[in-house]
Amino acid sequence: MPLVQLIYYRSTTSTHSSQNNDLKTIHQVANTSNKKLGVSGILLFNTSYYLQALEGPREKVNDLYFKILKDPRHKDCRLMSFTDISTRDFGDWGMAWANEALIKTELYTTYCGSSQLIPEKLNASNARNLLCEFAELARAQKNKI
Ligand SMILES: Cc1cc2nc3c(=O)[nH]c(=O)nc-3n(C[C@H](O)[C@H](O)[C@H](O)COP(=O)(O)O)c2cc1C
Repeated sequence: MPLVQLIYYRSTTSTHSSQNNDLKTIHQVANTSNKKLGVSGILLFNTSYYLQALEGPREKVNDLYFKILKDPRHKDCRLMSFTDISTRDFGDWGMAWANEALIKTELYTTYCGSSQLIPEKLNASNARNLLCEFAELARAQKNKI
């Protein structure tokens, strides 16, 4: 089956403290479940947005995206890209998340023109590059979660 990569962003509906709890739950569920599906990915977040890449077999990624769309913990999901790939960018993880300690505001300035993550300012290729740069930082810090 063809391998694809899907990137989307959404606004979070959570308050700051409930977002932390949500993230723990999402991470536990996603990491285990994604690995079973052969899906890998990365999730970048701040208090306003999630930016996530999912990659794996086309049907699995498609089904997972439609499941995530129904999740009440976010609103206004926006699909940025759905592309065939020959190799994975985030194959080390079922689902990695880029935590606060890794966040370098210079990267946001480069890609979003702001010190904050603002996905509306990213085109698909910049979104992928930004996520790849965070993955590199995570690898460098052995942040395999
Ligand atoms: C920002 C965000 C990202 C998510 N990412 C994943 C993911 O990568 N994999 C996954 O299985 N669930 C993910 N979820 C959780 C799903 O929406 C869903 O709650 C979970 O898969 C459990 O679904 P189930 O109760 O139908 O089994 C995510 C939820 C949010 C809010």
